[in-house]
Amino acid sequence: MNKILITGTSGFVGGRVAKEMSRQYEVLAPSHNECDITRPEVVEEYVRVHRPHAIVHLAALSNTGYCEQHPEESLRVNVMGVAHMADAAARYGCKLVWFSSDQVYNGNLELGPLSEDIAVCPENYYGRHKLMAEQEALRRCPDSVALRATWMYDIRREGMHTHNNFVTNIEEALRQRTPLRFATREYRGITWVDEVVSNIGHTLHLPGGIYNYGAENTLNTYDTARAYLDMIGDTTPSIAVPDTERFAAHVRNISISMHKATEASGGAIRFASTVEGLKRFADALTRRG
Ligand SMILES: NC(=O)c1ccc[n+]([C@@H]2O[C@H](COP(=O)([O-])OP(=O)(O)OC[C@H]3O[C@@H](n4cnc5c(N)ncnc54)[C@H](OP(=O)(O)O)[C@@H]3O)[C@@H](O)[C@H]2O)c1
Repeated sequence: MNKILITGTSGFVGGRVAKEMSRQYEVLAPSHNECDITRPEVVEEYVRVHRPHAIVHLAALSNTGYCEQHPEESLRVNVMGVAHMADAAARYGCKLVWFSSDQVYNGNLELGPLSEDIAVCPENYYGRHKLMAEQEALRRCPDSVALRATWMYDIRREGMHTHNNFVTNIEEALRQRTPLRFATREYRGITWVDEVVSNIGHTLHLPGGIYNYGAENTLNTYDTARAYLDMIGDTTPSIAVPDTERFAAHVRNISISMHKATEASGGAIRFASTVEGLKRFADALTRRG
């Protein structure tokens, strides 16, 4: 498996994945214009001509608010775009790995780390469309792998697209000295994108199915932010403000269990916990100066 098609390489995850994979693989990285995933004939032709061994599909509409405002476009890109990739992968016999999201769990009431086999009831278009895409992809290409990724973070890097994330939001708040509210009634994994990048090669060998993908977390989002601020030695009082009202109706828990992917990969796929990942990230920043 040495020729890999990666979509979405002008994006946050795709740019970083393509950079790392191109050290080891022949990477095909078409732009949005060169391979518009909403056009089945374009996707089919691209895969027919280039014959990749695997596709890492990262092109999507990743902004949940935008998807809520533009549900038809979200359906075209986030559901049908995946479906077209799955058709092409099945037709030309290549492995498809693509990114779903932990947002499929956002209507669940269960507590504790969630596993892939529970019934899910996403509450927004983004989550519902990711769930629909999982079903479409597996129906069209049973060997395809859907990754229910958590929220990812990184610093801004030269030449790489970086949208706002957990650490850039905190950095910005510290710079501006503006307090930031973090929900005490929310539990979610938050993952350093470098860990996703370093696991992706092993992910190409997973059997078809749906897998949680990213850091586990037992802390709520406020305690996670506090832990990170302690790690970076921040003593600014009240930069992180506990928001006890958000998710008042029910605790929001989209915190995942990584058991399935770790076991299916014979232990090769591994993520640090959210707090351990933040510590490694903070240490790497300190080393880099
Ligand atoms: N970032 C996160 O924290 C996070 C968390 C969970 C899951 N995910 C999922 O992970 C994947 C990657 O996310 P990301 O944050 O890297 O997204 P992103 O930064 O928004 O990048 C999206 C990419 O998709 C491309 N794209 C959009 N519409 C396209 C189309 N019709 N045809 C071809 N390319 C198209 C964009 O290209 P242009 O800019 O040229 O349009 C861009 O390269 C997505 O599936 C996202 O839902 C992300």
